[in-house]
Amino acid sequence: MANTNYHQNRQAVQLSDQERTELDHMLEHYPVASGASIDALKMIQKYHGWVSDEYLHALALYMQLPVAELESVATFYNLIFRKPVGENLVHPCDGVSCAIMGYRKVHQQLKKTLEINDGETTENNAFTLIPLPCLGACDKAPVVLINQTLHENVNPDQVAEIINNVTDEAHPE
Ligand code: FES
Repeated sequence: MANTNYHQNRQAVQLSDQERTELDHMLEHYPVASGASIDALKMIQKYHGWVSDEYLHALALYMQLPVAELESVATFYNLIFRKPVGENLVHPCDGVSCAIMGYRKVHQQLKKTLEINDGETTENNAFTLIPLPCLGACDKAPVVLINQTLHENVNPDQVAEIINNVTDEAHPE
């Protein structure tokens, strides 16, 4: 019974005209549909903030790909979100250079300040914490990417202020 409901729920979602148009355009550029998987998942995320099971299914149906194949791509690629994320994405870099230059303490302070663990979202839905591999700024290590802003040479004492500034920018008085 549970499976039936799940199946019905998945069928309830349909791709919009805009999404279909964008998908068609992507598919024209790849010899096989699977080549467009990441771009297609990113597109769904652009419109919905994350990729639900329902949209994964709708995408697979439209692209004529196995759901499991899209699922494995989504799982492998850590910037495809399979559950809702907060308004601000916090990505401490856990690459080698950042690890050497103090990632661990910065990461600990982020978890303490936000009161969440990796992959989690704060209760007020403001922040999601997701470490990423090398962000390409090794000479500025350790770095933390928050949305589109790269914070360089971060030390643990700066973490609370950095987070507060993001909150203030999002909700100025
Ligand atoms: S290892 Fe962190 S930016 Fe390269």
